[in-house]
Amino acid sequence: MKRYAKRVMDTDISGIRRMFEAAGTDAINLGLGQPDFDTPQHIKNAAIEALRDGHTGYTHGLGIPELRDAVAKKLREDNGIAAKADEVIITSGASEALCLAMLALLEEGDEVLVPDPGFVSYRALATFAGAVPVGVPLRELKMDASVVEEHITERTRMLVLNSPSNPTGRVLKRGEVKALCEVAEEHDITILSDEVYEHFLYEGEHISPATLYDNVITVNATSKTYAMTGWRIGYAHAPSETIEQMLKLHQYMQACAPSISQWAALAALTGPQECVERMRAEYARRREVVLEALKRMGLRCLPPEGAFYAFPDMTSLGMDGNEAAAKLLDAKVITVPGSAFGKYGTPYLRISYATSIDRLERGLHIMENVLAT
Ligand SMILES: Cc1ncc(COP(=O)(O)O)c(C=O)c1O
Repeated sequence: MKRYAKRVMDTDISGIRRMFEAAGTDAINLGLGQPDFDTPQHIKNAAIEALRDGHTGYTHGLGIPELRDAVAKKLREDNGIAAKADEVIITSGASEALCLAMLALLEEGDEVLVPDPGFVSYRALATFAGAVPVGVPLRELKMDASVVEEHITERTRMLVLNSPSNPTGRVLKRGEVKALCEVAEEHDITILSDEVYEHFLYEGEHISPATLYDNVITVNATSKTYAMTGWRIGYAHAPSETIEQMLKLHQYMQACAPSISQWAALAALTGPQECVERMRAEYARRREVVLEALKRMGLRCLPPEGAFYAFPDMTSLGMDGNEAAAKLLDAKVITVPGSAFGKYGTPYLRISYATSIDRLERGLHIMENVLAT
């Protein structure tokens, strides 16, 4: 019998992946966490040019200087963060940036406060780093400073924030971010801020914690904003000494982010931005369709102000998210039960609207029929 490390034996295959595997290929997929759009043509063209120009070797471990400059400029102009290029590392997606941040900061037994329900990676990555993920129940489906404070112990080292949120779609207001920063500062805790959905906002504004507090690692990516999930480009911004430590891990794990994709990401950040607004407007249209259908079904759903997920509470139909997802799967509609995102997610169901209006309407129609009976 082969022996495997505890860190993998203790980690489950993501509940989301399991749902996909259980469904046939003819199912309507309302479970996907990636844009259904193609990458805009001018970004693809930049990649083709990079290939033609022979940008096919390793790049600097931190990323090509042009892209690090563009990221720093973007963080200054879009987010109001006083960013410099030497405070930026280019990674293989936001996933790697989150991983590097945790491995660089966390010691065995340190505690990491993660939103519950929250994106599945936070728990797994904290565990890989030898740390202990501590789920913080959300208030009105948002991270709340007073609840966070109740979960702080001597060992708390990091607080993960994700606004707009996967899976809840909720967005933190300025006052809420400020209160969270104050709690973190008081207890000398690093904030790891995952901002990958920042551009998909339907209500309110996006606030980067790094504009209010110094001890923040900001993570973002071109993955969602520019429909580039497969290109694997993300980045982290932090004080340059933190970036230096993250670079050590990145060098040995990854060497560098994919070279061609870095040139494509440069075109994404510095080129025309209308494509982002077009995608946002289309998500906004679909969001209305979903919210209307949920209302017809009598489901309570706090307004998803960002990202591309609705997260209704299923208990008014006399079931939890697990039961609802199982019934829908039998009817060939894939959704994700809220329990996949933490124990406090159990009453909920995540519905992704990163799919065509046509598929969305068909899926929601089946949902109305199946869950009402
Ligand atoms: C909140 C959140 N953070 C990070 C990621 C991963 O992003 P990337 O594809 O850039 O690694 C995802 C992907 O679903 C996500 O939902």
